Amino acid sequence: MSTADSPTDLMERIVALCKRRGFIFPSSEIYGGFNGFFDYGPLGAELKKNIRDCWWNDMVRRRDDIVGLESSIIMHPKVWEASGHVAGFSDPLVDCKESKQRYRADQLFFAQVFVENVEFGPDVIDDLVAKKRISKEYGAALSDGKYGSPTLVGFVSALESERIEAELNEKAEEFKKKFRIRGQLKPISSNISGLVRDMTEAVPDEIDLIPSPATGEPGSLTPPRSFNMMFQTNVGAMTDASSVAYLRPETAQGMFVDFKTVVDTGRVKLPFGIAQIGKSFRNEITPRNFIFRSREFEQMEMEYFIHEDADWAKCHQEWIEWCRTWLLSIGLPDSHLSLYAHPKEKLAFYSKGTVDIMFKYPFGVQELWGIAARGNYDLGQHAKASGKPQEIFDEATKKKFVPHVIEPAVGVDRILLAALCAGYAEEDVKDEKGNVEKRTVLRFSPRLAPIKVAVLPLIKNKPELVDVAEKLYRKLKRKWNVFYDESGNIGKRYRRQDEAGTPWCVTIDFETIEKDGTFTLRERDSMQQTRIDEAALFALLEEKIY
Ligand code: GAP
Repeated sequence: MSTADSPTDLMERIVALCKRRGFIFPSSEIYGGFNGFFDYGPLGAELKKNIRDCWWNDMVRRRDDIVGLESSIIMHPKVWEASGHVAGFSDPLVDCKESKQRYRADQLFFAQVFVENVEFGPDVIDDLVAKKRISKEYGAALSDGKYGSPTLVGFVSALESERIEAELNEKAEEFKKKFRIRGQLKPISSNISGLVRDMTEAVPDEIDLIPSPATGEPGSLTPPRSFNMMFQTNVGAMTDASSVAYLRPETAQGMFVDFKTVVDTGRVKLPFGIAQIGKSFRNEITPRNFIFRSREFEQMEMEYFIHEDADWAKCHQEWIEWCRTWLLSIGLPDSHLSLYAHPKEKLAFYSKGTVDIMFKYPFGVQELWGIAARGNYDLGQHAKASGKPQEIFDEATKKKFVPHVIEPAVGVDRILLAALCAGYAEEDVKDEKGNVEKRTVLRFSPRLAPIKVAVLPLIKNKPELVDVAEKLYRKLKRKWNVFYDESGNIGKRYRRQDEAGTPWCVTIDFETIEKDGTFTLRERDSMQQTRIDEAALFALLEEKIY
């Protein structure tokens, strides 16, 4: 099996396939697209629906302790004040005044350039000062020979990527050449604490000396400032402060705000969960990596309420395992999954622990699913802000208490991208005549595959074949998304389905009509062909698609 060469290459090919086959394309493309927004075409919409359905069936319908919810996207603005989003749902933002580019400060990295046994004359030092690579005061000290070895000679910067270290070192090399500095560069390594930092860690004196990634020149980056990521809108005819509302940045608050109503109407008992699937919106500063970080996306979140005295750590662990097992059940490879426990000092004050399930995307290992133990912070906040207690009565102790919560929160689009990236392969295969040709294949699990079966009459001008094929197609279509294709040679039709990720093709051939009614079943991954009758075909699909 061969896949594309570099990670960037691979992503480009996946994006191109998505466009070519109608999985995903930029939103409003006829107007040039709209950064951070995407449309899902016929195959993408099916794939997405299958992810949602698998999650909903496994998370809600097949469990006795979880109920579903669909809350509104625009909620009372006080929800977002109580939850802390109005005050604190922000990313640190850095502007480049020259290029007008915007960066997330925690994704813009910089390093000091150090040179051992440095040799430079006064003209070089003057040049460094004039081009704002070092401060005037430091330049004066250098001119006076007040420097040790290694010597700081300036700064380089680069945006977060898999190659960040290599890129910073290349830029340091260019820097040394450009300013004709002699000596040995000290390698820049992110393993050495403090050597590579992001802009949130820059001290004020450094900011003016750090080059903008857009221009390569220092002096145009602003200090980081907070940027609230919620999209604002106005509700009603007035557009003043009193009508401001927000598009929800997460679905979770719906579950907290409706907690009491669900308890009072849903016949639920602790521990129990409320789950929701729906769109969320964040005005991301740097949407990127295709659909990985977009401005409109879909979340599948569940709030699992537990007794205040329950063993939260055990419950948290059980949910981490449940989520990981579920990802395997939809076909993501275990080898691409890992866990990241957030360091205690970086957690919000109310949080007891957060573990992310990470996925190895072509552009790096990134967060797929966050599983947070949030204590009783959210219900407590809403009780305070609304004046409505959010408690449950404990029959055993005859006391009321506010339940604690474990929250597994995942993005549908990130799962979809993970399935695309893990499933994508390019292979050399032999056609019927033994010639080697390329095939592109998406190895989706049958549960996720947008098309479950393709029905192919061997030739289209033989009514007996077409008649059987059409009948089978109609019958299958009652239960599953099935595709009918009679155009082109059979090898080409198989390739088209490989690219769409269809796990099986059934070909209606002469044996079907002349002998026993069986069809050729061609399996996508092994490309093996066997014979199967209708009952066995239905049984296979029932077993694999659940
Ligand atoms: N209620 C908790 C919460 O929303 P989060 O880590 O901000 O937590 C949960 O988001 C999940 O939603 C993430 O793990 C990710 O899968 C998805 N997600 C978050 N921001 C996203 C974005 N801009 N684009 C696509 N998916 C996103």
